[in-house]
Amino acid sequence: MPDITRSAPGKVILCGEHSVVYGYPAIAVPVSGLRARATISAAPSGSGLRIVAADLNETVQVKTALPTHPLAAIARGVLAHLALPEPDATLTLRSEVPIAAGLGSGTTVSVAVARALAAHLGQELDTETVSALAYEVEKIHHGTPSGIDNTVVAYERPVYFVKGQPPTPFTIHTPFHLLIANSGIPSATRHTVAAVRQRWEANRATYEAYFKRMGDIADAAREHIEAGQIKHLAPLLDENHALLRDIGVSLPVLDQLVSAAREAGAWGAKLTGGGGGGNVIALVPPAHIETVTAALRQAGATQVWHTEVESH
Ligand code: MEV
Repeated sequence: MPDITRSAPGKVILCGEHSVVYGYPAIAVPVSGLRARATISAAPSGSGLRIVAADLNETVQVKTALPTHPLAAIARGVLAHLALPEPDATLTLRSEVPIAAGLGSGTTVSVAVARALAAHLGQELDTETVSALAYEVEKIHHGTPSGIDNTVVAYERPVYFVKGQPPTPFTIHTPFHLLIANSGIPSATRHTVAAVRQRWEANRATYEAYFKRMGDIADAAREHIEAGQIKHLAPLLDENHALLRDIGVSLPVLDQLVSAAREAGAWGAKLTGGGGGGNVIALVPPAHIETVTAALRQAGATQVWHTEVESH
């Protein structure tokens, strides 16, 4: 049997992270240029299924790994769903998506593994199933995922998302450009989500007001994207960043990257994902892509990627 490769993109949340966990809407877009790839090949009889995370120098034997091991968990989820036994195979995983950086690295890997393993078994999983299987693994990464990450990564298209509801497709009327800048500070989503939950429990009225405003921002952003009014997104991104600072998930270094992007000509900027480190996104006019990239590097970004959100 020939080797099979399947891949999945990273993602950025445009607006509504954290508030989405509490039932408010959010918007996320795939980052198709940053991918995880899973290549699976047959192995000698009796080898079982091994997953080699090449970037991490880690090999996981699915049969004996702990139930909470995310790579073993996605493989087991696929096998249980298909009601098929573990094959003798080696699955090698490589990912360009930085880990613990708010770009969906865990989900990206889950989706690539699920698709490669199913294909190796002669099956094709529909997108909804892939998303649902990846969601189960998200629960290991952090206890109360909204489901937005697995949805945008599995569907690989922009999503307007409300927890517990099927994703609403929406139209990108006019393409727009984002720069994604890594602060280089890793941050596990589980920690920021848990910290926000503690603060929400201590001060529900204030936090519900913050979350409601974030949801309103996501609704307004969707309207502007559908109407092709891209510049109108800028104040929404800026306000969303201020709110994320208010709920305590920004850091001085993220605020600096956001300011540097704006001063260099970005229309708007904010942190993206769980925060506490990780990445910021900047909405940039095409003419300023290079200057804003340089400014972000100057302000300490360890990596800067450019992605175009295309019309759908
Ligand atoms: C993580 O990419 C986004 C958060 O809103 C968590 C979630 O939605 O599960 C912080």
